[in-house]
Amino acid sequence: MKNIDSNTHVRGESIYVDDIPVRQGTLYACAYDSKIAHGTITKLDVSAAEQFPGVVRVLTYKDIPGINEIGGIIKDEPLLAEKEVHFQGMPIALVLAETDEIAREAVHLVKVEIEEHHPIVDPREAHEKGQLIIPTRTFKLGETENAWSKCDHVLEGTAETAGQEHLYIETQGAYAYPTENGSIRISSSTQGPTSVQKTAAWVLGVPMHKIEVDVTRLGGGFGGKEDQATAWGVFTALGAYLTKKPVKYVLDRMEDMRMTGKRNPYVSDFKIGISKDYKILAYEATYFQNAGAAADLSPAIMERTLFHSTNSYFVPNVTATAHSCRTNIPPNTAFRGFGGPQAMFVIEAAIAKAAEELGVAPSVIQKANLLQKEDEFPYGQLAGGNEAVDSWVRAENLYNIEQLRKEVTDFNSKNKLFKKGLAFMPICFGISFTKTDMNQARALVHIYQDGSVGISTAAVEMGQGVNTKMVQVAAHFLGISPSRIKIESTNTTRVANTSPSAASATADLNGKAVSIACNALVKRLKSSAIKKLGLSASCSIELKEELVVIDGKKSDLGWEELVMSAFLDRVALTENGHYSTPTIHFDKAKEKGHPFAYHVFGTAITCVTVDCLRGRYEFDYVKVAHDYGSSMNEIVDRGQTEGGIVQGIGWMTLEELMYNKQGRLMSNALSTYKIPDIYSVPKELEIDFLNTNNSDNMAIFKSKAVGEPPLMYGIGAYFAIRDAVRAFNPSANPPYYAPFTPEKVLMALYEGQTATSRVLKDVAVGRK
Ligand code: MTE
Ligand code: HPA
Ligand code: MOS
Repeated sequence: MKNIDSNTHVRGESIYVDDIPVRQGTLYACAYDSKIAHGTITKLDVSAAEQFPGVVRVLTYKDIPGINEIGGIIKDEPLLAEKEVHFQGMPIALVLAETDEIAREAVHLVKVEIEEHHPIVDPREAHEKGQLIIPTRTFKLGETENAWSKCDHVLEGTAETAGQEHLYIETQGAYAYPTENGSIRISSSTQGPTSVQKTAAWVLGVPMHKIEVDVTRLGGGFGGKEDQATAWGVFTALGAYLTKKPVKYVLDRMEDMRMTGKRNPYVSDFKIGISKDYKILAYEATYFQNAGAAADLSPAIMERTLFHSTNSYFVPNVTATAHSCRTNIPPNTAFRGFGGPQAMFVIEAAIAKAAEELGVAPSVIQKANLLQKEDEFPYGQLAGGNEAVDSWVRAENLYNIEQLRKEVTDFNSKNKLFKKGLAFMPICFGISFTKTDMNQARALVHIYQDGSVGISTAAVEMGQGVNTKMVQVAAHFLGISPSRIKIESTNTTRVANTSPSAASATADLNGKAVSIACNALVKRLKSSAIKKLGLSASCSIELKEELVVIDGKKSDLGWEELVMSAFLDRVALTENGHYSTPTIHFDKAKEKGHPFAYHVFGTAITCVTVDCLRGRYEFDYVKVAHDYGSSMNEIVDRGQTEGGIVQGIGWMTLEELMYNKQGRLMSNALSTYKIPDIYSVPKELEIDFLNTNNSDNMAIFKSKAVGEPPLMYGIGAYFAIRDAVRAFNPSANPPYYAPFTPEKVLMALYEGQTATSRVLKDVAVGRK
């Protein structure tokens, strides 16, 4: 089944926040944001802005009727700065004006004076100064202290990954209007409608039932709207509440890049101990997470970093320690993978370093340590199956690894100025919110009198195809055509207390809730059928292909007639399904438990060709064997896999997020921040649907979650480039730093005199 949104997307008819027809009297909001990363406000004067023609009101923290606080996990983030500013881009005042243009112009008339303090942008500096968001956490398995002496090789190093801008096509935004008696309805581009509702209620000082949040769909979220859509939703609610007029605020691209948080950059130290038969006996990692100026989701992201410290490997002795470091850049946030990719890069760097020391390909070490069924993760859960090994072996065989290796070796022996590099990237990602209580969802299913069906869930469609999957689930359980089913907007009044659509778990949680509601309805409809047809209660009845099927034989009683007769019998045709993931638990005091419903695995082989004169590179292919469980929608799942891989490659290669020492974002526009385009996509993307069927598979239809895991295949891009660089310059030892931009590749290629002179000589004599 193709994505149910594809027709309206292609015609440009799909509705995003900025497409909602505006109501009469709508005001437009624009924030004045701090130009200083760290300081104390000594003067704040909004009078000139307020007097600007067309400006209706300018709000500061003093106008907030409730509590000036938007932090989701920790209450450490004011909506509007009071005395202190903590990052460049921090909102200080909010202009409300008759037009968008007037609001954006008047913002420049806000007068703010700030006494500057030293800004911190480096997480290690924050750590040294004790600037931590939460106490440090450590996950332990075995004893690393005693293990080093048993290792034949022990290596230490550092690894670093930069942040990543979400670059959702639809920027952050919201539109709110007052309804009766001080209530507000907010249309928001958010992954977390309940977060927007709860925070707006808190800031306005009203009960949650006064705030209704509605989401039709997002033009992308990628984690950037799990928590960080909240500020903009609350701003519009605040404006609407105070002026009693509709208020709209949609950020332009540069505002969005400047003011919102991104993937957390990480700086990490590692130590790895290996036996002579390539077994990893011990691994230690210390992560310095750059959280930015407030907690946002960083504590949960840090936790997932710890969960994924050993990627898809079994290591008997592990000590993984994480510090969440407070710096003066915008609060960083969820981004596809949620701290997992950052951890995986570190262990892959450690393995690469060990392999270089031992003079073998990293894949030799990778393969020797893959997780097997019942191997223990550092957090106590056991691997549910052998998918790590199975996907690796499948990739090797299906893509003929010997042939691929030979192609690379042959090419490299024949070419001096172009070199190919190859890397394996296995992945392992835990499915469930790491916070156990978030793993719940509800679905409200109405069957209308004409047999059409309307479904509301907590799932937010952001391009990942979850609405299509919800239609599939309902069609299956009700036994009707998908064309009868409509997925309603995600709305806090219809489905309350929702978890955000995140953690790749949206289809699982909401799909299970839909199935529970549909099954309850089917049970009632079956009773109606028995009554209507005068059957004995013992016969077997199914609803299939829009017909009542009795003891395996199709009857004449169709869906529409059945629904109408049930209605006339006064049977309830509405049901609310509730699902909470069974078996999962986690004890934070011990840092042990069973936090994930299941794990997703897979293996990618990446090949790159590096132009060794210019430092540029092109990806020849990424060939993947991915564990889909049993995919319920191969079109959607393939799209998620391809998109994730390309986004991961972007993070590893092009997307260089740079803050200067003053905490100013230098890569603040699409001219300085490069994302992958069609030319940087691998020439070949081959994806094999590895069908796995484990007893631990708790996915809806056993179709495993797919949203985030494929991004981590992109990490192979760094290591493939590294392999090519070393084919050209064997003494190169570039830092384990991503993104490996062409400039950095060029420097690595010519690291050390010998290589430079060799190439220059070759070029001089006209050899290729
Ligand atoms: N795919 C598209 N097209 N757009 C998105 O914003 N977000 C990703 C992933 N795939 C995203 C996407 C992220 S970060 C997550 S957590 C999942 O989708 C969320 O949806 P799911 O839980 O339905 O997989
Ligand atoms: N993933 C995404 N979002 C989350 C998680 C998670 O594991 N935990 C809390 N919010
Ligand atoms: Mo995804 S980072 O869990 O929104």
